[in-house]
Amino acid sequence: MTPPVDAPEAGAPAGLRIGDLTVGVPVVLAPMAGVTLPPFRQLCREAGEAALEPSARASSAVGTHAPAGLYVCEMITSRALVERTPETMRMITPDPTDPVRSVQLYGVDPVTVGRAVRILVEENWADHVDLNFGCPVPKVTRKGGGAALPWKADLFEEIVRTAVDSARDASRSRDHEVPVTIKMRIGIDDDHLTYLDAGRAAEDAGVAAVALHARTLEQHYSGNARWEAITRLKEAVTTVPVLGNGDLWSAEDAAEMMRQTGADGVVVGRGCQGRPWLFTDLVAGALGSDLRVRPGLREVAATLRRHAELMVDHFGDESRAMREMRKHVAWYFKGYPVGGDARRAFALVSTLAELDDLIGLLDLDAPYPGEGAEGQRGRAGGPKRAHLPDAWLDSRAIDEAWAEVLHQAELSVSGG
Ligand SMILES: Cc1cc2nc3c(=O)[nH]c(=O)nc-3n(C[C@H](O)[C@H](O)[C@H](O)COP(=O)(O)O)c2cc1C
Repeated sequence: MTPPVDAPEAGAPAGLRIGDLTVGVPVVLAPMAGVTLPPFRQLCREAGEAALEPSARASSAVGTHAPAGLYVCEMITSRALVERTPETMRMITPDPTDPVRSVQLYGVDPVTVGRAVRILVEENWADHVDLNFGCPVPKVTRKGGGAALPWKADLFEEIVRTAVDSARDASRSRDHEVPVTIKMRIGIDDDHLTYLDAGRAAEDAGVAAVALHARTLEQHYSGNARWEAITRLKEAVTTVPVLGNGDLWSAEDAAEMMRQTGADGVVVGRGCQGRPWLFTDLVAGALGSDLRVRPGLREVAATLRRHAELMVDHFGDESRAMREMRKHVAWYFKGYPVGGDARRAFALVSTLAELDDLIGLLDLDAPYPGEGAEGQRGRAGGPKRAHLPDAWLDSRAIDEAWAEVLHQAELSVSGG
């Protein structure tokens, strides 16, 4: 049995052990479709590393040691990976400077998920595979995928077991075993909770960690994450780490979640949108340091500029890269004195030269604005009726007729 957490040296904070991986601090960048592309992951990880002693930054055990936490790729659909679509092959391109490459897979068909895991492991695309059972996007859940899937307990178990077994088998070509983890929500709605059964089933199937976004599918991104569910999951899953996710906007929130719930680590999503330096705070907080980054507008603009440059390199297409950057721009400026006209101009930016011109018009001496730049950011909104296949909730078992329907759910989805 793997202990959930490495025994810390006296006075040192606990790291995480995820199968054969050691993660120096219990901090994970949440997979976010359209957001956690290699350039953004690189910025987040570099920010995390900035909180480490220089000697701790470089990893001598590439593939098995993540000194500054895990930085997970946006979700990849298994079917598209098996079909090797060019867009998917771009999406799994690693950040070349990342010592541990984490890829998240979405899938509803055990065979396809197993084949996708084999590609990732045998062809050396990833050192860690996470499975997505939390996506609330209607076009996914309507076909029984994402957050709808754990309701079908037998199918859930089969997918997880196939992924774990495939990773183990394919790891024979590697010098370490590639761990498989899952990320899920609490359930479909308050009358159809799945997380405790799913957590235990995943543990039995051999996953190396379990992460919980403490909301139901119906909650979507509304209201508060229900951290008490993380406490319950931690009680139910005892042999592998339990990671908590939902509404972490600061290092202090992360510490509070771990204190309240007993979680072994935190997964942080929206809080770092337009604010990769949050990972300096999170890693520093995990190490017991009070280092916090409070950037003025000049530093924000420099990070935005670097993000854009990395995106142009990643896409090899300036126009595409700048279109992708537009949403990030609004996040970067949250709370800073950037007027409506300037924001509208940034939202239409199409070249790096234009971006530079617009940055040149800002009052770059503006200091860190305090509260305005903190707190909740990104996707929110109200609860949403769960879109499910007909009669989905009638039984927790899956019948043959669903196999083909679920097969279809693999096709061209994007995450959330
Ligand atoms: C834009 C966006 C895209 C997301 N894409 C994914 C995804 O691909 N896979 C996944 O498991 N969760 C995805 N999520 C959910 C997040 O990983 C995370 O569970 C959720 O945002 C709650 O954490 P937070 O409060 O720290 O943001 C996405 C969330 C957002 C806002």
